[in-house]
Amino acid sequence: MYDKTHSLMQRGIAFLGTEHAIMCGAMSWVSERNLVAAISNAGGFGVIACGAMTPELLDAEIAATKALTAKPFGVNLITMHPLLTDLIAVCAQHRVSHVVLAGGIPPRGSVEAIKAFGGKALVFAPTLALAKRLLRGGADALVIEGSEAGGHIGPVATSVLAQEFLPELAEDHVVFVAGGIGNGAMIAAYLEMGASGVQLGTRFACATESIAHPAFKQAFFRANARDAVTSVQVDPRLPVIPVRALKNKGTEEFTAKQIEVAKLLDAGEVDMEAAQLEIEKFWAGALRRAVIDGDIESGSVMAGQIVGLVTSEEPASAIMAQLMGEAEAALNAK
Ligand SMILES: Cc1cc2nc3c(=O)[nH]c(=O)nc-3n(C[C@H](O)[C@H](O)[C@H](O)COP(=O)(O)O)c2cc1C
Repeated sequence: MYDKTHSLMQRGIAFLGTEHAIMCGAMSWVSERNLVAAISNAGGFGVIACGAMTPELLDAEIAATKALTAKPFGVNLITMHPLLTDLIAVCAQHRVSHVVLAGGIPPRGSVEAIKAFGGKALVFAPTLALAKRLLRGGADALVIEGSEAGGHIGPVATSVLAQEFLPELAEDHVVFVAGGIGNGAMIAAYLEMGASGVQLGTRFACATESIAHPAFKQAFFRANARDAVTSVQVDPRLPVIPVRALKNKGTEEFTAKQIEVAKLLDAGEVDMEAAQLEIEKFWAGALRRAVIDGDIESGSVMAGQIVGLVTSEEPASAIMAQLMGEAEAALNAK
């Protein structure tokens, strides 16, 4: 049915063990058992967002996801989580097939620990040199994510990253492209450039199975691309990773938070690492308020620029079928 698309996705499909090489990138608070299982059951690859979860909570979430799907799914771990080693151990106990290390350069030993229990390690890399180093060092696949994406982002657009990374890496490595993808024609284009598959977040965040609050989903349906803006760094010393979210009052609260953390730094009460953790705790809390409580005014409604194409609630399987149909049509039109 999707012959041409599947043929270009072949390596991604073999790597993920799925029907289609379409990943739903982990979204903190959104990517829990229901959405993850729905994506995997629809032939894609769901990824649990561990975020700031404790090892006990992650253990329960993996078990609950397994109860909802027999298909492969992954777990996304944030590298700066203080209990990263314990979280990898939880993945090992559950024999999680794929672990995505996100939010920074994987600390020494983390990729090895994943591979030691037979898991596949997926990593992000902001530069080509680092990507090569990580792949040489044993990482099994790479995700390149451009600045169009929702959530924490780097400074370079997906289209530019694709042109830089794919010609150098795609022949020998499994590379997924993420950021700003909302239509199958775009998926087809990245596959033709050599990507093994793609990762989408924003397009799936409001699926029927997503537990995101109805107000969060409505905010997505109303928003245009230009509403999904990046956070501003107040103090250049602060290790702030820019975050893309819908413009609201929460943006001002982030400014206040940065001033507060900068004062703690000045007073010597926290070091850089602790400052970064403070900032990340702020985001986790703000995102929870938006996703779970529906506070879309002061919470953080993280969304990518492709949010303008998200206009209604649909089952994950319908979104998947639409994307695959569009990709196939684009390839057939040649
Ligand atoms: C609400 C939201 C929360 C996110 N949380 C995480 C996260 O916890 N870990 C992560 O690696 N990426 C996170 N992301 C990024 C997604 O996994 C994915 O890479 C991104 O959404 C792809 O770009 P797109 O939004 O343009 O589709 C998040 C994205 C959104 C929209």
